[in-house]
Amino acid sequence: MKVVVIGAQWGDEGKGKIVDYLAEDAKYVVRYAGGPNAGHTIVVDGKQYALHQVPSGILYKDKSVFLGAGMVIDPEALFNELQMLKDNGIDWEGRVFISDRAHIILPRYREMDKKRDAERKRPIGTTGRGIGIAYAEKAHRDGIRLADLDWAQKMAEFDGEDKAYLDKYRDRLISMRVDLTAKMHEYKDENILFEGAQGAMLDIDSGTYPYVSSGASCAAGAATGCGIGPHDLDKILGVFKAYETRVGNGPMPTEFNDSDAAESELCRTVRETGREYGVTTGRARRCGYLDLVALRYACRVNSLDSLVLTHLDIYDPMEQIEACVAYDIGGKIVTDFPAGVEDMENAKPVLKKFKGWKTSLKNIREYDKLPKEARDYVEFIEDYCETKVGIISVGYERDETFIRTGVWK
Ligand code: IMO
Ligand code: MG
Repeated sequence: MKVVVIGAQWGDEGKGKIVDYLAEDAKYVVRYAGGPNAGHTIVVDGKQYALHQVPSGILYKDKSVFLGAGMVIDPEALFNELQMLKDNGIDWEGRVFISDRAHIILPRYREMDKKRDAERKRPIGTTGRGIGIAYAEKAHRDGIRLADLDWAQKMAEFDGEDKAYLDKYRDRLISMRVDLTAKMHEYKDENILFEGAQGAMLDIDSGTYPYVSSGASCAAGAATGCGIGPHDLDKILGVFKAYETRVGNGPMPTEFNDSDAAESELCRTVRETGREYGVTTGRARRCGYLDLVALRYACRVNSLDSLVLTHLDIYDPMEQIEACVAYDIGGKIVTDFPAGVEDMENAKPVLKKFKGWKTSLKNIREYDKLPKEARDYVEFIEDYCETKVGIISVGYERDETFIRTGVWK
């Protein structure tokens, strides 16, 4: 069975934790989009791991992981990450593979990325990891893939620092290189988990363009990015937090307003208890009310079979919770997610109030044991999005999670 896990917001939804949790029943984990711009945090037995390029399944000793064709790979950062795993007692050798169709980020792309963003009239606030440059080179048809590393004519086109860099990593990359389509066919009867990076709203096509990343972080990206066709994807899960966050620039209609005392206090609480600081750049994340207009769009544009709700416990102390059910754009009430940047920038959230549960959810492992107020919040989300919430996470640890709807069947 093949299950896809995507982010249903602007990234940082807790995908790493959920992939790690679901990976227990998968034999292989394949990451399909982005590169070192991602930051997936996993906590196991109190120990925290921050993964950027290596799929989250790596923490299980018996799993093999694949970096897919839809990714852009920074070899230097990748081998540093693998070394970090080794230093923490995780033996990765022989179980990390990379698609021969994946593209390579050259070191100079990082500077080009930062310079280009600084020169933009409306900077995106990229992570500066060279992501956009690598995907642009790919689209220009001037990129370099792992498959090209032993193509003598192509390699002869590189000189200076580029050549030295590629020479340094060439043999190691070749030793990890695979034909992912052949592998996916070979493993067609196994459980395979496809790990998304970024999120629905950061997808190059369906996201809040131009304030997006450059890869296909949508569900369809699992197919194009992993060498299989869309028919082979059995289930698609979308992870979202009980509130909204965003890193970098671009419209975010439900962002807490810093000049409003109550919202500014709410922002502080959510940011601190939710640890809303970037794993990749350390930037404080922008925080806001859950945006159901955006979430329902994410469900539709990605054919989500079910939702995974994380960080529900962050609302434990709240008297009242609010979520956005429509946008007010210049007096017009809108519930379909707009493509226009100006519409998005002018959108004022129409908020619905929910009663808080004012108790800790940390030890709850069954849906029916959730306080009624929490169930009301979840069930409203399900009705609004016309999509069930199948998994709920109430803490950072692997086991602080419970399933309502089985995934691998
Ligand atoms: P994970 O997988 C949150 C954002 C950046 C920036 C925009 C473009 O951890 O959820 P890029 O460097 O990709 O060109 O930056 O996308 N961004 C993310 N935000 N989580 C991520 O990944 C992100 N990857 C990119 O902040 O606004
Ligand atoms: Mg992140």
